[in-house]
Amino acid sequence: MRKARLFLWFAAATAIAVYGALNIYQRGTVPRTGDDERQKTAEQVAREIVTGEFDLVGSDLEAVSDTDFRGNWLLVFFGFTHCPDVCPTTLGTIALIMDELGPEAERMQPVFITVDPERDTPEVIGSYVAAFHPKIVGLTGTEQQIAAAAKSYRAYYARIPLRDGDGSADDYTMDHSAHIYLIDPDGIYATVFSPADPIGTILKTLRARMAAQAEN
Ligand code: NI
Repeated sequence: MRKARLFLWFAAATAIAVYGALNIYQRGTVPRTGDDERQKTAEQVAREIVTGEFDLVGSDLEAVSDTDFRGNWLLVFFGFTHCPDVCPTTLGTIALIMDELGPEAERMQPVFITVDPERDTPEVIGSYVAAFHPKIVGLTGTEQQIAAAAKSYRAYYARIPLRDGDGSADDYTMDHSAHIYLIDPDGIYATVFSPADPIGTILKTLRARMAAQAEN
């Protein structure tokens, strides 16, 4: 999706999360505090609505569901292999994060879920993600399976016909939200990143979350 739209979506999602948090304040169940506290409360709201469930198909045609990854941290990203900009850039960012994480990368599993199952067959998505990093798992499925997965992440996507379409199988593109979700080893939503976040910031957050979880 185009960057301007991406930022609009991220801004909208953030606004919704903050709005939800503010509603809680107004009901008086949470004391009014500073920005850090507000951010935490927005994450609590997201934790309740992002269930992170999926039942999809891997590049080897085997069924893959979110429960298969328990015990690992997940970085979940929705997109499609024909995406001209945000998806390849984001997968490049995720590959770099995996390399930079060092030994901690063992407990980190990146998952790329297509929103374009018509073109992204198991074989197509498998070879696409492999070009970025060997550890990234590419998942596809039926339209219904993809819709259910996107719903559980509150991810948006839409099929957009191309104006100069020639009626071929390729005369459409996909619009989609571009958050990178962090899911903890228990399958619980931890936080979300924007592909525009600096890699150093994402790495710092990942290490802090992983260290805090290891202490518990
Ligand atoms: Ni994209």
